[in-house]
Amino acid sequence: MKKIVLATQNRHKVREIKKLLRGLGIKVLTLDCFPGAPEVVEDGKTLEENAAKKARETALYTDSWALADDTGLEVKYLGGKPGVYSARWAGPGCSYHDNNVKLLRELKNARGEKRKAVFKCVMALSDPSGKVKLAKGGISGVITENIRGKNGFGYDPVFYIRKYRKTFAEMPLGLKNRISHRGRALGKAKKLIMQRLAHSG
Ligand code: IMP
Repeated sequence: MKKIVLATQNRHKVREIKKLLRGLGIKVLTLDCFPGAPEVVEDGKTLEENAAKKARETALYTDSWALADDTGLEVKYLGGKPGVYSARWAGPGCSYHDNNVKLLRELKNARGEKRKAVFKCVMALSDPSGKVKLAKGGISGVITENIRGKNGFGYDPVFYIRKYRKTFAEMPLGLKNRISHRGRALGKAKKLIMQRLAHSG
């Protein structure tokens, strides 16, 4: 069976991506199978650069196909921040909760449409030689005024989708995956996986 390594240490992402890749007939491995794999430094200026770097370095280290994701939340009122800096926005070692508290604080004077935000996800698929192709997905929402819901991770409890009247953290994972930035990017990445990996030797 063909295999692909997920280039992430984030167990929430692993859970979401594994669920989305089910049924392709491809064995999905995680970095836990490769003890000693070096942590990739995310020093790119864009989501594309970071995703490509994570996929390429993991593919070269494991000598396998690799799939990486880099995600950012862009808030209109904040001129697109935190964007590529979403992970450690509240400072080194910060928690998801710290980031959410900072976001709500920075938006305390923003009302209505000013709280619009977009989640963007870039998936990078690398072959074992380090050749990368990208797939992108996004979803629009608004930032809530309070933390809402217990599911998911990261900014899920403050990212609200009007159509469903729920934050991502109030949705079951199946629904989040169907509509999310990552679900959409992975829908496209799946086509790349089938075209490239399925036809590889
Ligand atoms: P990363 O650099 O791709 O790992 O993502 C940056 C940060 O964005 C993460 O640390 C999370 O805080 C946040 N993030 C990524 N994906 C999601 C998601 O699906 N929901 C909520 N927050 C997310």
